[in-house]
Amino acid sequence: MRVLGIESSCDETAVAVYDDSRGLLSHRLHSQVTMHQAYGGVVPELASRDHVRRLLPLVREALAEAGSDESSIDGLAYTAGPGLIGALLVGEGFATALAVSWGKPALGIHHLEGHLLAPLLEPNPPAFPFLALLVSGGHTQLVDVAGLGQYRILGETLDDAAGEAFDKTAKLLGLPYPGGAALASLAQGGRSGVFNFPRPMLDRPGLDFSFSGLKTAALVALRGRDLSAVRADVARGFEEAVVETLAEKCRRALRHTGHQRLVIAGGVGANRRLRERLAEIVRDMNAQLYFPRTEFCTDNGAMIALAGCLRFAAGKLHGLGMSARANWELGAIGV
Ligand code: KG4
Ligand code: ZN
Repeated sequence: MRVLGIESSCDETAVAVYDDSRGLLSHRLHSQVTMHQAYGGVVPELASRDHVRRLLPLVREALAEAGSDESSIDGLAYTAGPGLIGALLVGEGFATALAVSWGKPALGIHHLEGHLLAPLLEPNPPAFPFLALLVSGGHTQLVDVAGLGQYRILGETLDDAAGEAFDKTAKLLGLPYPGGAALASLAQGGRSGVFNFPRPMLDRPGLDFSFSGLKTAALVALRGRDLSAVRADVARGFEEAVVETLAEKCRRALRHTGHQRLVIAGGVGANRRLRERLAEIVRDMNAQLYFPRTEFCTDNGAMIALAGCLRFAAGKLHGLGMSARANWELGAIGV
């Protein structure tokens, strides 16, 4: 089974070829980040237009790199949601048109299913079942993953996603959008304990998160101070608060589910301090930690090609003929 995967849910256009016996054969990505930076965030209309421009050349490159052509592709998989509706429609229109002209099936994939299966692209992939911490720009969820398509949401953010909190706080610190990775680098030079930000929701039972208060705490901490003198310490304090909150909820969820495997996925999963802290927690609990390489933590086509390949191979074709949707609950995805 060989699948061409297409991701276009936000501001990355990405294409990959995944083969169930040979693994990942190619992956190509164009990031629109510099185009949106002038506006301080993603402009949906510009994103859609750029996906239109980039998709076909990226497909050609991905096929050439895989040493493949359309005759060896068995199916197409594309991100059907959640995401920006215009951007999703471009990907869906493109993928289904290509599928019709090649005489192959096209399958719509849930973007978060792609993220949480991404560690399966790596050597020593996790076996099912596992606990997944999904931390991206749009979502923060703890998911009980029983098998392909069997997802139970154990907890989620009540307001901002972790990545969104990183990006908003980065903006307060004068960093360009999206500022998560830049804030993490700034934090490396900051001192621990100078700013002690709250650890939201840790004083309550349960597995939900809330990050909007942290951004406000950072705003208050910066008020009346010389930004250049304190920004590294604020970045450090903020990062420690987010990491400690995510880590404690993972510890609770591992204990609650009895799972022995923890997967980190999504863009914030690239955060080094988060990985280190979760590694300590799983070590203490005799569990195992899995995460994709950094480029597969953030949006990419490889995770969509892989998810498509697994679904085609298992005959789990719920997405055939579906239409793109901006909102789509992971727990309602079905098999
Ligand atoms: O998964 P992703 O590429 O897109 C969504 O589906 O949202 O995640 C992007 C998010 C952004 O908020 C970005 O700032 C954050 O991931 N991010 C990071 C790091 N690298 C990316 N946050 C913290 N530390 C990082 N190293
Ligand atoms: Zn994503």
